[in-house]
Amino acid sequence: RDNKVIAPHLLDWYDRHARDLPWRVPPGGGRADPYRVWLSEVMLQQTTVAAVKDYFIRFTTLWPTVQDLAAADDADVMAEWAGLGYYARARNLLACARAVSAAGGFPTTRDGLRTLPGIGPYTSAAIAAIVWDLPETVVDGNVERVVARLFAVRTPLPAAKPELTGLAETLTPRQRAGDFAQAMMDLGATICTPRNPACGICPLIDDCDARAQGIAAELPRKAAK
Ligand code: ADE
Repeated sequence: RDNKVIAPHLLDWYDRHARDLPWRVPPGGGRADPYRVWLSEVMLQQTTVAAVKDYFIRFTTLWPTVQDLAAADDADVMAEWAGLGYYARARNLLACARAVSAAGGFPTTRDGLRTLPGIGPYTSAAIAAIVWDLPETVVDGNVERVVARLFAVRTPLPAAKPELTGLAETLTPRQRAGDFAQAMMDLGATICTPRNPACGICPLIDDCDARAQGIAAELPRKAAK
């Protein structure tokens, strides 16, 4: 397996198969809106892409900019959030919108983003890569599964997390890190699925150690509860 070809193979696939999602701009379509990327990533931390779409469209219709959301009544935002769960997230959402609005915009570094309410390692990396095109590595459950299979990592989760993050970092390209992150997520959601992965149509079939060893569907392992 040649690590250097993984990002080019995956980006080539993403250019042809990226999912059309309301917070995305198409590959090569210019800069994504930090407000829309932030809002989608916060919503996606607890719910599937399919469920988030309607909430995202509703929120951005009611509040098209971060300034609009910052000026909203708390009760209106909480009411629109109903069904997404985890109300602490909605409170952080408003606190974050107000901090960003007061500052005149979103920070443009991962460390700057991390100072905001509700923005942790995952969300800060996602915004930095997707919006600001910084070479940050975004690791969610999908990415952990894809990496565990590419490198045939047999260590069970959650112990394997630091190892998987380190391996993901070795794959992140200097250019197009945001597209790469979203391509990893799309691959994990549509092809490199938890059960019955569709290896026959995977753009990384020749780059995957688990596939070569016939154990893709068995990874990642999970520690017994
Ligand atoms: N899950 C979380 N963030 C995502 C994104 N930007 N694209 C696809 N799936 C995601």
